[in-house]
Amino acid sequence: MLIQLIQLKKTFCENLSQVKTLEDLRILKINFLGRRGKLTLFLREISTFPKGERPSMGRQANFLKQKIEAEIKVKVREFEKKEIETKLKKEWIDVTLPAPKQSLGYLHPITKVARIIETIFSQMGFEKVCGPEIETEYYNFDALNIPESHPARDMWDTFWLKRDANIRMHTNDTNKLLLRTHTSPMQIRYMETHQPPFRIIVPGKCFRHEATDASHEHTFYQVEGLMVGKNVTLVNLKAVLEGFVKSFFGKDLKIRWRPGYFPFVEPGFELDVTCQVCLGKGCSVCKKTGWVEVIPCGMVHPNVFKAAGFSKDKYQGFAFGMGLDRMAMMKYKINDIRLFHSGDLRFLKQF
Ligand code: DAH
Repeated sequence: MLIQLIQLKKTFCENLSQVKTLEDLRILKINFLGRRGKLTLFLREISTFPKGERPSMGRQANFLKQKIEAEIKVKVREFEKKEIETKLKKEWIDVTLPAPKQSLGYLHPITKVARIIETIFSQMGFEKVCGPEIETEYYNFDALNIPESHPARDMWDTFWLKRDANIRMHTNDTNKLLLRTHTSPMQIRYMETHQPPFRIIVPGKCFRHEATDASHEHTFYQVEGLMVGKNVTLVNLKAVLEGFVKSFFGKDLKIRWRPGYFPFVEPGFELDVTCQVCLGKGCSVCKKTGWVEVIPCGMVHPNVFKAAGFSKDKYQGFAFGMGLDRMAMMKYKINDIRLFHSGDLRFLKQF
């Protein structure tokens, strides 16, 4: 019997040395310790051995069983270790490498320009107020000295909307609403509820019935300005706007004043700057003139004060309006206004 047991042990050791995979090991285990395994059968047979041999045989067989189990465990661990090692070799990570670069967001050039403009005017004592983008016919036209028959209405004709109950209407108003077609309607709304002296700027959006090209867009960002008091004159207008242009573009920029016509001012002006795209040589942006109009402006028309409810000749003041898209074009030498709304990251990442 003992020889049989020794033989079993020998076979197990031989088989174990030939095991190459976890699967071989599993089969070896079944062959020795499974329900019909060699050692299991031997253990079962012990009861048929002569009485005197049974205890020692049982002990030795159980000892062999424990040894087999232990050796199989060791082998399993060896296989698992190897498996992890090959996996690690394949999935190797260099933890000392720098992390991938985070890409930062950028401010849109128009946002940048808006912030610069708001800062400059706030340093000159102007307060920022906002007005509705959906306007009534009265605030957009009539109150600004543009009656129904006025030719300026054609220039600023636009998308008309159905009446909305949430908007403050004037008693003179019709039922017609429109997307604000120019920068100035908030002038009236503000003057209806405030007494001079005041200085305000009105940032926001404007919508135009426009055939788009390199320098015209259907939607643009605006800043309207208004300063009113008892003694506000053309000298103040000139000082404020020249001061603004110099701090926005730099002191060396050349400017030019021209008369301009706008129904809500009298007299009216255009403030031009040397085209920054071609530096005055002439290009498609300045239509080969070397100049670009950046700030239309003028002294507030008496009819506008009248519409706001101010007594005749009590106050005077000036107003101006500008398109931020154009200001950004001049500041950053951009030659096509359509780029601003293109969503093209190659363009946006340059700022
Ligand atoms: N509202 C005009 C526009 O959007 C711009 C403008 C011109 C504003 C003259 C003014 C001004 O305040 O005085 O085209």
